[in-house]
Amino acid sequence: MKKTDDQILVIFGASGDLTERKLIPAVFDLYCGGFLPEHFAVTGVSRSEYSDEAYRQKVVFENEFILKKEAGEDKLKAFADAIFYQPLDTKNTDSYNTLKQRLQTIDEAKGICGNYIFYLATPPSLYETIAEGLSHVGLNKAENAWRRLIIEKPFGYDLESAKQLNSKLLACFDEEQLYRIDHYLGKETVQNMFVTRFANSIFEPLWNRNYIHRVEITAAESVGLEKRGGYYDSAGALRDMVQNHLFQLVALVAMEPPVKADAESIRNEKMKVFQSLRPYTKEDIKTNVIRGQYLGSKVRGEDLPGYREEEGVKEGSKTETYVAMKFFIDNWRWGGVPFYIRTGKRLPTRVTEVVIHFKPNHHHLFAHDKSLSNAHNTLVIRIQPNEGILLKFDMKIPGAGFRTETVNMDFHYDELTDVYVPGAYERLILDCMQGDATLYSRGDSTESAWQFVDTILKAWEEDDIPVYGYPAGTWGPEHADNLIEGENMTWR
Ligand code: NDP
Ligand code: BG6
Repeated sequence: MKKTDDQILVIFGASGDLTERKLIPAVFDLYCGGFLPEHFAVTGVSRSEYSDEAYRQKVVFENEFILKKEAGEDKLKAFADAIFYQPLDTKNTDSYNTLKQRLQTIDEAKGICGNYIFYLATPPSLYETIAEGLSHVGLNKAENAWRRLIIEKPFGYDLESAKQLNSKLLACFDEEQLYRIDHYLGKETVQNMFVTRFANSIFEPLWNRNYIHRVEITAAESVGLEKRGGYYDSAGALRDMVQNHLFQLVALVAMEPPVKADAESIRNEKMKVFQSLRPYTKEDIKTNVIRGQYLGSKVRGEDLPGYREEEGVKEGSKTETYVAMKFFIDNWRWGGVPFYIRTGKRLPTRVTEVVIHFKPNHHHLFAHDKSLSNAHNTLVIRIQPNEGILLKFDMKIPGAGFRTETVNMDFHYDELTDVYVPGAYERLILDCMQGDATLYSRGDSTESAWQFVDTILKAWEEDDIPVYGYPAGTWGPEHADNLIEGENMTWR
């Protein structure tokens, strides 16, 4: 196991939703798993007034996302003792001196010696301000200790703001100190895509344009806005899901084998994928990128509001809650293979999966059999739920002749009952604590992904490309089906 230095985790946005729902529970799980160093503290920072004790009550004892019953009161209490709170306004430059002094006090009391992670779980508009504030009082660097900065998505709003954010951050921190978190990369099954491809000798020889017909990636959510209307309405599905989570999946499917399984080698290969995305023309966008917005509907007896009726959404908003797109990766491996990706809110179910459709045999020996009319092998990598891998292939139906049927070879992660599967935030926070940036996004590749997405955003801004309505609880606009059905295929 890698060594985890003694350290303080400073969480900006400590009174917010992400901290309560994901961050503190993840750190608690690390604590229960024995992964935290001997000398450790969490310091929460936001404007709300809490004493240390009141903050511990909020994020530990009264936090419904911590599985208290399993852990036991003693563990909770010991964990809570390592949590501190400092109220301050990050827009106020003087407040960083207050923070510095507070961290020194906690550091000395706990015997930590200066290693700090600053986790920015605040509105993105504060990222540059906080980085500058930390730098202003010298908290960005230390002589005999390390300093790291974790930034939550979104990393910018478009290409220009992403570049500006990167350059402002790099004026205060080195790239090696920056950890841009994309929680999809912390999911076990997402990491397993890398292993499936490069640890097995049977897949990689087929993993190219000669054998793969098309790649499909779906990230469907049944939920709506979950009280995040204010944020979502200015973001939309393209910024919220495609530019980051879905493109990370694309990169893992499409990348070349890295020289080594380390951060720089893997991130170099992912970067090349983004650089090879074939840029869209305006005409391409009209036909190959479909955007939609959910409409009110009755789903399983429940009346669900339309997107425009949701709290925090502007009247007449054209923000997309659904995107489907077809694109190409112009490189040696993927030339001519279409990639279809789609994501949306208020779809019929929650499922994220990558589907590799292999080409059918070039000669149909059993073509007389109807069941083979469109037969081909399919590999389904299920990211969530029911995490696992499924291979579809044809078998002979017992009896006379050569009738065939498609059957499944199906592996489920939950069959590994003796293996603990860590949550995404748990894994990623531990990686940062140990200085491993492999599963974090690098600045140049976030900019490359933005470059591709920016063309779409600009075309949409011109406002002559429709936002199609779809009833909540359905699989998005029909036009998205046409994207794939026009070529005599269906989404899986
Ligand atoms: P919230 O609005 O719930 O929390 C924002 C936090 O920032 C609050 O703690 C707020 O506390 C603090 N804050 C705001 N202004 C200041 C200020 N001037 N000085 C100090 N603190 C301030 O947001 P979320 O927790 O939902 O999101 C946080 C970040 O994480 C965002 O960037 C979001 O995009 C990202 N994210 C969130 C996800 C989620 O599921 N929630 C998922 C993925 C990313 P106070 O008002 O007390 O100052
Ligand atoms: C977040 C998005 O990054 O990912 C949310 O902001 C989305 O809108 C969420 O719901 C999906 O994550 P998961 O892990 O539930 O697939």
